[in-house]
Amino acid sequence: METNLTINGTKQRLDLDPRTTLLDALRHHLGLTGSKKGCDHGQCGACTVMVNGRRINACLTLACMHDGDAVTTIEGIGAPGNLSPLQDAFVREDGFQCGYCTPGQICSATAMLEGDRQVIALRRAVM
Ligand code: FES
Repeated sequence: METNLTINGTKQRLDLDPRTTLLDALRHHLGLTGSKKGCDHGQCGACTVMVNGRRINACLTLACMHDGDAVTTIEGIGAPGNLSPLQDAFVREDGFQCGYCTPGQICSATAMLEGDRQVIALRRAVM
């Protein structure tokens, strides 16, 4: 099944089995291994990515359900030498535990903070 996604700002056309999860599409078809598979049941959050700015568990959703969507993974948030402020804070403040789920934590927190910024901007606009 043809699925068109914009991954970290780059358009990608994938030919996938319709049962392919978004997480497996990212990891196995696109080589973006920053998003981790932990529980594969929507419980741990290691696979969290942003779809159209909202955080989701990539293990619980099929890639074909996101045809036309914009997906941001940890690779799209920042990279060594060009970390996002949140990634930089994780490094400076030793925010890692074992590090396995840290990409999911950062994607989740980035989406949360972005949502907060939008709410604040909306409140200012209506006041
Ligand atoms: S792998 Fe645990 S929530 Fe997706």
